[in-house]
Order: sequence, then C-alpha cells, then structure tokens
Amino acid sequence: MARDRHDHFYRMAKKEGYRSRAAYKLKQIDARFHIIRRGDAVVDLGAAPGGWTQVATELAGNSGTIVGVDIQQVRSIDGAVIITGDIRSEETIDAIRQAVGSADVVLCDAAPNLSGDWSYDHARSIDLAEHALACAQKILRPGGNFVVKAFQGDLFAGYLRNVRSRFRNVRAHSPTASRKASAEMYIIAKGFRGDE
Ligand SMILES: C[S@@+](CC[C@H](N)C(=O)[O-])C[C@H]1O[C@@H](n2cnc3c(N)ncnc32)[C@H](O)[C@@H]1O
Repeated sequence: MARDRHDHFYRMAKKEGYRSRAAYKLKQIDARFHIIRRGDAVVDLGAAPGGWTQVATELAGNSGTIVGVDIQQVRSIDGAVIITGDIRSEETIDAIRQAVGSADVVLCDAAPNLSGDWSYDHARSIDLAEHALACAQKILRPGGNFVVKAFQGDLFAGYLRNVRSRFRNVRAHSPTASRKASAEMYIIAKGFRGDE
C-alpha cells in the first residue's frame, strides 16, 4: 500500500473516481485493441473492487449490458449487474448466462491471492485463466472478444496456444499501467471462432 500511495495510476484513479489503478490497464488495452463497442454485452470476471467494470460501463454506454463477477463483494456500480461467485463453479456460469444471455466481450483480470511461491502462484493464475476461457467459450457469441490476465511462466505458452485455437487474432500484451516489476501479461483475443 505504501508503494501504491506514491503510484501515478493510483493517484489518477483516486482523482478520477475509479476504484482501482487497474482501470487504466483496461483503458489502455481498449484504446489500442478496440475491444468494447457501444451497446456491447460485457462480462468482467474477477471484478472487485470494480475498476474494469466502471470502464466497461463507460465504453459500452447506456445501451450496453455489463456484468461484474467476483468471489468477493463488489459495491454496486451504476449500469452494471454484480454477481458474487467463484468463476470456477457451474452455478456462477449459469448465473452469468441468465444475466447476459450471450456476450460480445468477456474480460478476466482475476488473480489468485499471492503465496510468494512463484511457480505455485503461476499455476493458480493459469488455472483461473483456463476457467475464464471455458466460461468465454460457453457465453461468447461467434466473433466476440476475450481479454485475460495470466502470470508468465512455463505454462503460459501452452495456455496461449489454447486461446489461439479458439480465436482468429490473438496477441500477448503488457500495458504500461502494469507495474514494471510485474510478470503479468494480458492476452488479447479477438474473433471467437464459435463452432467454426
Ligand atoms: C486484480 S483484482 C481485479 C481488479 C479489477 N479488474 C479492478 O479493476 O478493480 C483480482 C480479483 O480476482 C478475484 N478472484 C480471484 N479468484 C477468483 C475466483 N475463483 N472467482 C471469482 N473471482 C476471483 C479476486 O477476488 C480479486 O478481486
């Protein structure tokens, strides 16, 4: 926290009313890769405290449908439906499906609580990313977009291959709003293949 207080994006988030510095990562990703359009139905997995969900409601506008999901409580956000649940459970996926029908965009910034054991944390991050991909495959419309965070490590390349097999255009990207020391990467996947 001490480091956060002096952080440029942390201060900007405070000033501009975003609940997390992470909000700027989604803004940067969207400015570069054009993920969310007005009117889109967007599902945000691992949403607490709600920065990405706030940005998604702005990008999709009043005609959009935004669903934020987290295992922790998320304070209500104007224009968004909040679901409290574990993204690894079928029950949560069913609740998302009921709220959104089919989605144009699935986002996942979910991260495990860090244990300090790097390879363990990496494996848990990839496991969450696998569940996010499974969720995306169930709810995305063909042609839809998927953005997911994953920590780098030996399982990363295999995961990236999985995503590539299901989307037409896939890039790994590190936004400048990510801390320099961070090993997190975002996979930007566009054009869900559906049953193709
Ligand atoms: C880095 S934070 C997300 C920050 C968010 N994008 C924002 O801008 O406010 C990661 C979140 O993933 C959530 N998470 C981790 N495992 C989860 C799971 N199995 N199901 C749902 N949420 C999970 C955590 O509770 C945490 O709130």
